[in-house]
Amino acid sequence: MRALSGIKPTGTLHIGNYLGAAKQFEMMQSKNYEGFYFIADYHTLNSYPDPSALSENTWNIVLDYLAFGLDPLKSVIFLQSQVPEVVELAFILGNYTPMGLLQRAHSYKDKTAKNEVINVGLFYYPLLMSADILLYKSDVVPVGKDQKQHVEIARDIAEKFNLHYQKDVFVLPEPYIPEDVAIVPGTDGRKMSKSYENTIEMFSSSKDFKKQVMGIVTDSTPLEDPKDPEKCTVFDIYKLFASKPEVDEMAEKLRAGGYGYGHAKKDLLEAMKEFFAPMREKRAELEKNPDFVEKVLKEGGEKARTVAIETIKEVKKTVGLVGNIYC
Ligand code: ADP
Ligand code: TRP
Repeated sequence: MRALSGIKPTGTLHIGNYLGAAKQFEMMQSKNYEGFYFIADYHTLNSYPDPSALSENTWNIVLDYLAFGLDPLKSVIFLQSQVPEVVELAFILGNYTPMGLLQRAHSYKDKTAKNEVINVGLFYYPLLMSADILLYKSDVVPVGKDQKQHVEIARDIAEKFNLHYQKDVFVLPEPYIPEDVAIVPGTDGRKMSKSYENTIEMFSSSKDFKKQVMGIVTDSTPLEDPKDPEKCTVFDIYKLFASKPEVDEMAEKLRAGGYGYGHAKKDLLEAMKEFFAPMREKRAELEKNPDFVEKVLKEGGEKARTVAIETIKEVKKTVGLVGNIYC
């Protein structure tokens, strides 16, 4: 079974990205899935990123992937833009994609609803993501719930193409979305997202990390009063990091009263610090070793491209584009 996923380098990764996506990559690696994990850099261009910020964010996510436990000997780690064939496939697939399918994409609908000016790159986004998935013939795509529709679009396009040529060129991909981390809440209780500025970033400085955790929004129930754990974002996040007995203990303390939200935040901070400590250490080591990271990308890009070229050849042959016979 082949698993594939990517994360856009639009900023610093947060615990939503980790739990909803990267942690699942590592889990699949441990279950011997053949993994392809990339940094979706082409995908950022529709928001005109600052070039130096884009390259810095890209590099940082490679470090993050490795710190989270992705192993270049077991998984293919690469940048989307190392494999230009993805753009070629996206172009070809566009011809098998009804306009309506892209018009129904949330990413596009949300922007039109806000009357924002939209470029073709944004409209085309699900198509490029479909090419990401189909190019590597991926069976499963580990993502957060917000990406489910995009994986379904990839599946629809693959089905249309296969049906048209009566040939199983593309594998029909399935999203992989574990229920408990499908939507990790942010510090304001909404979905954690870079765009809502409600994130907790596991690799930020200890000071910023603490500030983000202590900034989780709670209601104004006084310290001494009982509190409902089910209506508490601190508790919701704690559940994702602590053991079952620890979670039960916090629930009991909240219900009993005399345990304030400040106490709960401190317990959450400690649990997360402990959880991420080995990854922070590993990341600090990797930062000192850029040659290793470059080697990972060079070899990962080559492996990914070999697979991509095979698929592109097969697609071109299927549709009757004979160009690659003559090059
Ligand atoms: P953001 O919303 O912060 O911009 P991205 O869109 O870059 O995050 O998401 C990268 C990956 O992380 C995707 O697979 C996405 O579904 C997942 N993800 C992002 N935020 C969350 C969240 N709050 N809960 C679960 N998964 C998430
Ligand atoms: N669209 C995804 C996001 O916003 C990133 C992404 C690009 C992706 N291509 C992908 C995820 C292919 C999974 C598979 O987070």
